[in-house]
Amino acid sequence: MATGRPGGRDGGRGGVRGTSRPLRAVRKPEASAPVGAGGPDGPDESEAAARARTRVAERAEAFLVEDELLAGLRERCTAEGVVPVAPATAAALTFLAASTRARAVVEIGTGLGLSTVALLRGMPADGLLTSIDPDGERQVRARAACAEAGFAPGRVRMIKGTSRQVLPKLSDAGYDLVLVDGVTTEFPRDLEASLRLLRPGGVVVVDDVLWQGRLADPVRREAVAGALRETVRRVREDERLVPLVLPIAEGLLCATLRDTSAS
Ligand SMILES: C[S@@+](CC[C@H](N)C(=O)[O-])C[C@H]1O[C@@H](n2cnc3c(N)ncnc32)[C@H](O)[C@@H]1O
Repeated sequence: MATGRPGGRDGGRGGVRGTSRPLRAVRKPEASAPVGAGGPDGPDESEAAARARTRVAERAEAFLVEDELLAGLRERCTAEGVVPVAPATAAALTFLAASTRARAVVEIGTGLGLSTVALLRGMPADGLLTSIDPDGERQVRARAACAEAGFAPGRVRMIKGTSRQVLPKLSDAGYDLVLVDGVTTEFPRDLEASLRLLRPGGVVVVDDVLWQGRLADPVRREAVAGALRETVRRVREDERLVPLVLPIAEGLLCATLRDTSAS
């Protein structure tokens, strides 16, 4: 289960390639405000600026109030030790599913269905969400949550199994959006598998990659820190992707697979 999560800005290329594709950032990570490696909240920032950033983050988080259904699901998650996506992340998932008109979505890590409902709320009415979790009991309850939210059973395909077992069986380039929110140490592997699933223009989203800012601390050598650093590095360096980290919750890593068919 994804609990705390670090992200790192170690490495990066910054090279300019002789292609007609849009260029990646050319600033070296060390010279820029690093994501997860001593960056925006590093030693140069004054306390006042840091407080202002906190206020902005708090207001952004408070912009949308979760409805009763999601709030109830969140309480159940807390009581049972399941870590759901944060309220702002749920809102971002709904937004991304709607803005990309995601008809085919994969969710790695069903939990009790909070992110499942958030994704469905953004998807078109004929969309199908495939959700993967080795805990079948949780999936039964997540399905009930989807029904409670008004979604027909045919809108969700629950597949019981680990991401390693299930993802290889899903179709190449068959999906518009993939949420990676299973086991943190599996994130690098889940990311690779997700990229294979995405159609050109599709989006992969990885939850909580900055691990409460602890990813910036080089002394954190836990497996979870290594997995998150690896995930962030791979996304940043992959020329096929347009990457972004949204500073909500513990950092929402998003990347779009470039559509190179016209170039
Ligand atoms: C962080 S919770 C998911 C929360 C859910 N996305 C939400 O926001 O409501 C992680 C889930 O991943 C599941 N899980 C554990 N091992 C897994 C694996 N190898 N592959 C996929 N999911 C796994 C756990 O059973 C748990 O329900």
